[in-house]
Amino acid sequence: MIVVVLTNTIVTPWEVKGNIDYDKLIKEFGVSKLDDKLLKKLESHTGELHHFLKRGVFFAHRDLEFALKEYEKGKNLFLYTGCGPSGPIHMGHAMIWMFTKWLQEKLDVELYFQFTDDEKFMLKKDRSYEDIQKCLYDNMLDVIALGFDPKKTHFLVDTKHANIMYPEAIKVAKKITFSTVKSVFGFKNDTNIGMIFFTSMQAVPAFLPSVIKKKKMACLIPHAIDQDPHFRISRDVIPKLGYPKPASIQSRFLPGLAGMAEEGKLSSSTGVAIYLTDDPKTVKNKINKHAFSGGRETVEEHRKLGGNPDIDVSYQWLSFFEEDEDKLTKIYDDYKSGKLLSGELKQILIDKLNLFLVDHQKKREEAKNRIDDFMFKY
Ligand code: TRP
Repeated sequence: MIVVVLTNTIVTPWEVKGNIDYDKLIKEFGVSKLDDKLLKKLESHTGELHHFLKRGVFFAHRDLEFALKEYEKGKNLFLYTGCGPSGPIHMGHAMIWMFTKWLQEKLDVELYFQFTDDEKFMLKKDRSYEDIQKCLYDNMLDVIALGFDPKKTHFLVDTKHANIMYPEAIKVAKKITFSTVKSVFGFKNDTNIGMIFFTSMQAVPAFLPSVIKKKKMACLIPHAIDQDPHFRISRDVIPKLGYPKPASIQSRFLPGLAGMAEEGKLSSSTGVAIYLTDDPKTVKNKINKHAFSGGRETVEEHRKLGGNPDIDVSYQWLSFFEEDEDKLTKIYDDYKSGKLLSGELKQILIDKLNLFLVDHQKKREEAKNRIDDFMFKY
């Protein structure tokens, strides 16, 4: 199974565990590192670089150069990303979509946003269909609240858009063998047959716009690196159907609050994720209680020896969510010198997140009347 990267480290679309060595992952997955040359090229179209690009949060890609070349040909490019609705949205999901929104705005292209309610229903043994539909609704509110442009954003819900997606999915499915999905995803004989088929559905939005518009359009997929196995398969199959290979731009995981050594990505199953629906008090309590600290045992020691921002989860989170470079550098230096205490560092993160979340939750309420504006119509 090629999805096991290191002993005790697992990266598959359905499980991420362990301390991830991203350089090793690049090699194992066969993706390319985002280099300065490519970033410059992207910047020439976006006018600036998102701090996720400057800081290596988005760090790998497949065929980004090709996607940009197509973009240069009269914007012959669309974006595609997605959400598997199985629980509340946390900051680890949101960061991918914040970046996607930025890309959409800067490149001024259409975005196809897939909700794989079929996937999560089939994956989670103990969850009912109705239960997943409730998550779907809740997750759509969060995606809308992040500010996507409804004129250029199209939601594809696997069970709702089956009549347009299924005819394409079977064309994909016909070209994928059981032995391929077994080796890529590690499926066993007791895996349900829905999951065995599922990757065909995730392939569809990567070429559906070409089908609809009857022209070969390039596709760029922003996603966290755990989704790469799906697109590794899609990239083999889609050209056989006569459409361009989808390109991707891939991110690291937001570390779990309880410490990077124990958890690979921020997982909702640990119970210490920050959800987009958490109120200010909950955020404060979670961070104070759970955020792994790089500080010293006592204030005296901390003042004398300084903290370690490199292992401090609050600092790591700020490196994702504090866009101001100077502010972040000052926090780093002050923490390291001992001027800034762990409690104070945590408070900076708490304030930063709550500022975003309170506003998000207002927009989320407003989103309740807007779902239909985002649904793909054909
Ligand atoms: N399978 C993804 C998940 O579980 C959802 C998804 C569907 C997706 N299409 C995508 C994610 C494209 C990134 C890009 O979350």
